[in-house]
Amino acid sequence: MTEAFAELFGRSPEGVWHAPGRVNLIGEHTDYNDGFVLPFALPQGVSVTAARRDDGVVEVASRQAGGGIVRASVDGGTVDSEGWPPDRAWAAYPVGVARVLREHGTGGASLLIDSDLPQGAGLSSSAALECATALALCDLHGVEIERAELARLVQRAENEQVGVPCGLMDQAASLLCTAGHALMLDCRSGLSSKVPFATADAGLTLLVVDTRANRNLATGGYGQRRAECEKAAAKLGVAALRDVTDLAGALGSLRDPVLRRRVQHVVTENHRVEATVGLLRAGAVAELGAMLNASHMSLRDQFEISWPEADAAVDAALRAGARGGRMVGGGFGGSVIVLTATDRAARVRDGIAATYAKRGWPPPAFLEAAPSPGARRSA
Ligand code: GLA
Repeated sequence: MTEAFAELFGRSPEGVWHAPGRVNLIGEHTDYNDGFVLPFALPQGVSVTAARRDDGVVEVASRQAGGGIVRASVDGGTVDSEGWPPDRAWAAYPVGVARVLREHGTGGASLLIDSDLPQGAGLSSSAALECATALALCDLHGVEIERAELARLVQRAENEQVGVPCGLMDQAASLLCTAGHALMLDCRSGLSSKVPFATADAGLTLLVVDTRANRNLATGGYGQRRAECEKAAAKLGVAALRDVTDLAGALGSLRDPVLRRRVQHVVTENHRVEATVGLLRAGAVAELGAMLNASHMSLRDQFEISWPEADAAVDAALRAGARGGRMVGGGFGGSVIVLTATDRAARVRDGIAATYAKRGWPPPAFLEAAPSPGARRSA
């Protein structure tokens, strides 16, 4: 990377910053409802090789995306990537982060981006890109921002600059996760705690299945779901669906069946996160399967964001003897997680692959998910 950087930008880099992708164990579409999430960091992520610039220009290039060097000023309003060719759209993420952090004292930089995370797999490649960029900019310009606060700023960059209405989970996961643990995050207070999550000790494997069906937060139904949740909260007279304590009463008072289904999912999903944390703290990892299955059914039937390849992967995994599985991320495409006894993992993988082949779908990709460290300077 040092040579590639020098060739592109005509000088030496000052360091490399890495930020991981994430898998959410449980707690889907709860973050923007001020609820709870339980993600962990993946070994895969985004690395940014970088050097400071003092002229307020941020210049970025990507090893994977192509599109040459994109240059933008750190001053200015929101990122107007509309005029950029499609193969440069990814640059809106680092430029957006540079524009928001500029208000906190950072400046320009040259950034070369490299990633080993599959894109569009629902594993937060964009949050990893944002967080690696954020750490690089802070370090290069000697700006110290506490990580929980940095996660909120990076989320703001994605909301306001890139125009994606995401919640806090992905950025917090990338910045705050630690090896061997999941992160219990209260998205209202921002407070988090580490929950031990070691599958191998229990003879279990957590597989990530990239269903190879694509998703797009900006154009998909994500924003629509978020708006429905906000509407339901307003009708129920609460600040956010996290505040619904009497589910039966809330369901009884909502006339719109769509809003009832959304509320049912969010409220029960928050309970499932708390129950899952209880199981993990009690060392009962093997019992997680039932939680994953309940979450998947709720996302499929109440929140209505699952997709055929995800449902088929979960069904095939269960038929092959897995303990549980569910779709992860924003929905409408991306990945599924499956919890299985390690000695059954090969059978589960084969079962899913055979189902995809029978349906004529592209073969799924499998990753093994070990809870890994959060974002850091790596060189
Ligand atoms: C995407 C968003 C997150 C979160 C999840 C769903 O990953 O970026 O903020 O809302 O979807 O849980």
